[in-house]
Amino acid sequence: MNSPTATFLHTPPALLPVPRVTSQYVCQACGARTRQFFGRCAGCGGWNTLVEQQEAAADSRRRRPVAPAAEAGVPRRSEPIQAVGERPLQRLASGYAELDRVLGGGLVPGSLVLLGGDPGIGKSTLLLQSARAMASRVPVLYVSAEESAQQVKLRWRRLAERDGAETAEPGEGDGGPGLRLLAETDLELVLQELEGLRPAVAVIDSIQALHDAELGSAPGSVSQVRDCAAALARIAKRQDTALLLVGHVTKEGMLAGPKVLEHLVDAVLTFEGDRFASHRLLRAVKNRFGATHELGVFEMRDRGLAEVSNPSELFLGGDGPSPGSGVIVACEGTRPLVVELQALVSPTSYASPRRTTTGIAANRLHQILAVLEKHLGLPLSRFDCYLAVAGGLEVEEPAADLGVAAAVVASHRDLTLPAGTVLVGELGLGGQLRPVGQLELRLQEAARLGFVRAVVPKGSGLGPIAAGLGLELREAASVAEALVAALGTDPAAERD
Ligand code: TYD
Ligand code: MG
Repeated sequence: MNSPTATFLHTPPALLPVPRVTSQYVCQACGARTRQFFGRCAGCGGWNTLVEQQEAAADSRRRRPVAPAAEAGVPRRSEPIQAVGERPLQRLASGYAELDRVLGGGLVPGSLVLLGGDPGIGKSTLLLQSARAMASRVPVLYVSAEESAQQVKLRWRRLAERDGAETAEPGEGDGGPGLRLLAETDLELVLQELEGLRPAVAVIDSIQALHDAELGSAPGSVSQVRDCAAALARIAKRQDTALLLVGHVTKEGMLAGPKVLEHLVDAVLTFEGDRFASHRLLRAVKNRFGATHELGVFEMRDRGLAEVSNPSELFLGGDGPSPGSGVIVACEGTRPLVVELQALVSPTSYASPRRTTTGIAANRLHQILAVLEKHLGLPLSRFDCYLAVAGGLEVEEPAADLGVAAAVVASHRDLTLPAGTVLVGELGLGGQLRPVGQLELRLQEAARLGFVRAVVPKGSGLGPIAAGLGLELREAASVAEALVAALGTDPAAERD
């Protein structure tokens, strides 16, 4: 009766050793964790982003023993905010005014900056160039986890030739503390080097290629990226080293690695550009030490990146006005940019007309077409409409609406907007022209580039200022009025 099997079967379950679950599925895009595998992450909605990871089971409720601070006579650890000492922010110039502008005036010691961008866009080039420039003033460490020291040296030499310093070695000729190079992927060695050298600036290219041997997971996985960044951040804050981290961008255009990385760093910059154009745009998506949405413009040349200090010229077509083009003044952060828009409106041969946009949201175009159809009576639903922003810039702000409307109407009517005219204004659904921010700044930029006329929403109060700038200001309350002011004829007068 009492066979060994029967005894085993009758042992109460509580006495059996229960295996502890130490495996979890971690989303490689947002860092969400689950015990179960799903094809789609419940946290961020990404497909196939869950990866199984073995984690040591940690009891998160256990607290580290620390001496109590609340006993009589012992000062508390917190302090009144008035008593907190203030240190003036001493920013370090990165060597490039465009990069400084995006950073909010330069690199802040002890801060972490994440630079993201597509492969081959020029992240390594930008950071090596600025490391080179900074090395003439402060010690800089460049950690290359992706390329060998030889490759970096080759690139460095190419960049050096740009400045006419062919024979210079790192540190030589620059007359400063110099640039040191470490080609290493092991986090521990990188941390040791940082502690030993205590550089003012360190570049980590890239954070995804660093590897902490203590963690079981593969390089580039969420836990690796997060832990490496956290370890680097601790050192950076402790010894006031400004860290520039390169981050990769996934196919979908997200910064690869967990969102937590974006929370960990002080600034997130993105480097973007058109594969077919040579200019590159640097933007701040997050910045604890400055404004976001500042724009820096660079141009990729055969010897590295050159700054473009007058980007409006880049985004102007250059061949003067043509039917279907309109010029707007967009504002990126505090930077006004004069940009040309081009529209092509032609009779459709499809059941539903085609609407295609480059550099502007398609929904915005749909809305503007609907407003023009309703309030100007233009039969645009029988026409295909293509819209493009010159120079590959992305224009998001509604202040571009009037320019879009004018370009569409001009193309539809085969009209050319008079040369020297800029259009600024947001369209309301009722056909009214709404005021936009930073109008004075926009007018200044238009005047600087030789424009003579600006069509703007009514009530700006900037007439005298515009006159001082040599601009004729034409104010309009509605899109119909604005188009008459811009084109000189009434586009609604002659209906198809
Ligand atoms: P890189 O900085 O390696 O890009 P990332 O680090 O973002 O992947 O830039 C690589 C591209 O830049 C490559 O296609 C070649 C081009 N390039 C130039 O055109 N001129 C140059 O002087 C350098 C260094 C690179
Ligand atoms: Mg690179």
